[in-house]
Amino acid sequence: DGAIAIKEGYIQWVGKMGDVPNPYKNYECKDVKARLVTSSLIDCHTHIVHGGNRADEFRLRLHGASYSDIAKKGGGILSTVKATRALSEDELLDISLKSVDKLLAEGVGVIEIKSGYGLDIECELKMLRIASRIEEMRPCHIKKSFLGAHAIPPEYKGNPDAYINDICIPALVRAHHEGLVDAVDGFCENIAFNANQIAKIFKKARELNIPVKLHAEQLSQQGGASLVAEYNGLSADHLEYLDEDGVKSMHKAGSVAVLLPGAFYYLRETKLPPIDLLRRHHVAIAVASDYNPGSSPILSLLTIMNMACTLFGLTPEESFMGTTQHAARALALKNQGIIDVNYQANLAIWDCDSIADLSYRIGHAPLYKRLFLGRIIQ
Ligand code: NIG
Ligand code: FE
Repeated sequence: DGAIAIKEGYIQWVGKMGDVPNPYKNYECKDVKARLVTSSLIDCHTHIVHGGNRADEFRLRLHGASYSDIAKKGGGILSTVKATRALSEDELLDISLKSVDKLLAEGVGVIEIKSGYGLDIECELKMLRIASRIEEMRPCHIKKSFLGAHAIPPEYKGNPDAYINDICIPALVRAHHEGLVDAVDGFCENIAFNANQIAKIFKKARELNIPVKLHAEQLSQQGGASLVAEYNGLSADHLEYLDEDGVKSMHKAGSVAVLLPGAFYYLRETKLPPIDLLRRHHVAIAVASDYNPGSSPILSLLTIMNMACTLFGLTPEESFMGTTQHAARALALKNQGIIDVNYQANLAIWDCDSIADLSYRIGHAPLYKRLFLGRIIQ
């Protein structure tokens, strides 16, 4: 029996059908029957723009190689860098749009997209421009994160500091001047960059007034989460190896813990992120697809919500908060992720009647229609 009054893309009023106040009574009325209406979903961590796939590495891992072994031999992220550099902007855009459409068809309305498969100035900019073009071509918001510090490219093998000085920081500055950066990200890990190297980029981000986030404590404990907290970062993501001090520092800084069960699943990780500590210290938990060709080739945020429940033990309510309200926070979106007055009318209307139903099934498509800025999309 709920009603939502919408004008010019924004929510004006929310309440019961019988209580609709006078000014809204003459609005055009759309009856969605007894369906569940939520804020549309937000995928706050993806690597959608990329070339190629890594089925061969999936195979190698099942023959006994680890993700780190493959990366150290020049595969992993670097094999996707090669494939991404080889494609033109238009070719990459076409591939990326197909992926974006799959997410949107499930009720997603905001997608974060990272660079990080270019690792040279031109290709990093190419990736971010594609992300920007996607937003012009589809009814959704795209948030762009600069992930120059994702891996050390072959040209700088053994010389990560030079890579950061010569490529990463100049690329960030240029991308920022082109309006292509909403956040700065990095990969703090022994197969990528250490905390001091990441701090160098974070300093630049602070100078440019760009918020930071980080791939942190995924394969080992590196202090990345505390580093994010030191910079009042938006989020630390992955977090399987996060310890209690890290959790406390995240709480203090108000950083969101973004959990990525797809990567946990594909890498057959056995160490769970410290969910109970996050709960106990009141750290907001978000959940995202991490869609990428290596560690999480899963193009379904609903499946990921299921995995957050079945693999990590999140409740369906937590999983839902993780892809709406808390995901909005991880992207610094002030007026999205909740159905409330003055929030954007980005809504999902579902052929189901409870929040639990969204995380319950796999391979089920419960979306009835989506609204983007008040406009009915599908
Ligand atoms: O979020 N951890 C680092 N980055 C990605 C994986 C990228 C890749 O393997 O291509 C992640 O899991
Ligand atoms: Fe990632």
